[in-house]
Amino acid sequence: MSVWAVLAAAGSGERLGADRPKAFVRLGDQPLLGESLARLDESDWIDAIVVAAPPGWEEPAILLAEELGCSKVSSCVTGGATRAESVKLALAEVPAEAAVVLVHDAARPILDDAVIERVVTALNEGWDGIVPAVAVPDTVKRVDGDRVVETIDREELRLAQTPQAFPSEVLRRAFEGDVGGASDCASLVEARGGRVKVVPGDLRLMKITDARDLERASALL
Ligand code: CTP
Ligand code: MG
Repeated sequence: MSVWAVLAAAGSGERLGADRPKAFVRLGDQPLLGESLARLDESDWIDAIVVAAPPGWEEPAILLAEELGCSKVSSCVTGGATRAESVKLALAEVPAEAAVVLVHDAARPILDDAVIERVVTALNEGWDGIVPAVAVPDTVKRVDGDRVVETIDREELRLAQTPQAFPSEVLRRAFEGDVGGASDCASLVEARGGRVKVVPGDLRLMKITDARDLERASALL
């Protein structure tokens, strides 16, 4: 059974506001992308990797992979206008023989191998997708403008992370047609009636959005 990883790194990082795309902003002593790339490459669960890079940053992405000795990187594609479009373009480079595709955001650098193990092994139970997720610590309100409409039972809510794992055929079908602004892959599988399971995520898998997140993540390296 071969497991391919798609690493979505093609975002511009507008909210971080750096002079370069988020994937190439420094975290510790290397570009942010290098952290999750090296961890995927080192994982015994992963056979090959396709990276989606921002337009004009394909070459630096390949050079980084070479510098880090990431021998599993199969190709680097130019990303699209949205995350879902970038994943779709990368998915086109995953061969038909791949049994499982795991999709991860470069914006979540602190990827522990135990999370990869959890999502890949849970797929053996016959699900259409596996999402690592954590509980919601705060009370959540639904609002209409500034008026509270209701308080939502947070016991029923989870914050979805990546890597998310799917049987490759399920993911391919989910990405047929217009994928637009879907913010994660599982939502496209759910929209087609797929059965998606959540497994425990990892608080260290926090997403880097702004400069403060970068500081918090560097403390976790
Ligand atoms: N992503 C991508 N292609 C896009 C947009 C996003 O591959 N067109 C990737 C990002 O590189 C990131 C992940 O999707 O790893 C999650 O996106 P996000 O955190 O929103 O990153 P950015 O879109 O780069 O940041 P911002 O929204 O602040 O511009
Ligand atoms: Mg974004």
